[in-house]
Amino acid sequence: MPAPVLITAEELHAGVERLASELSLSYGDGVILVAVLKGGVWFLADLVRAMSINPEVDFLAVSSYAPGTGRVRIVKDLEIDIHDRDVVLVEDIVDTGLTLTYLLGELSRRGPRSLEVCALLDKGCRRIVPTPVRYVGFEIGDEFVLGYGLDFAERYRNLGFVVSGDLEALRADPDAHLAELFGR
Ligand code: IMP
Ligand code: MG
Repeated sequence: MPAPVLITAEELHAGVERLASELSLSYGDGVILVAVLKGGVWFLADLVRAMSINPEVDFLAVSSYAPGTGRVRIVKDLEIDIHDRDVVLVEDIVDTGLTLTYLLGELSRRGPRSLEVCALLDKGCRRIVPTPVRYVGFEIGDEFVLGYGLDFAERYRNLGFVVSGDLEALRADPDAHLAELFGR
């Protein structure tokens, strides 16, 4: 079961540059980019380096009580006070939208001046709760993707491109795609 490349490094680069231009245009007065650990880190790092303004960055980590229920809690909170500030939540992927809905609720309670979402990948077809994603890198279908921050059991995050994984094979063996993708 090979893991075909879905988005090449070149395509990712172009998508990130486009989003960085959009954000730079929208937030000339400054912005706080909040990445959700861990998957959003790779995207955030490239995004800020392509921006022509100087954003602040901060990080959140969440943990789910039970996978797939959307019941999550913040296990690492922001260090910056976002009250009255323009904030963009940077996500690797929006799938069902449950995690994002929870996070948007939490953050909006702190009274930011504005709050938007920038997601590298959007699986719109899987959405359970309608979620406003203002900045989208790539719309993808109903598939399980790996690479550029996205993992299965903490593997594959450091791929420089995005592949479509075989979820059944990964569940049986999380290392299933390692040899093929990393030449080992
Ligand atoms: P949600 O379903 O929108 O709440 O997404 C929750 C989290 O599931 C995302 O932030 C990712 O960490 C993870 N996730 C969803 N789809 C994928 C995928 O295709 N590959 C890897 N992780 C995923
Ligand atoms: Mg995530």
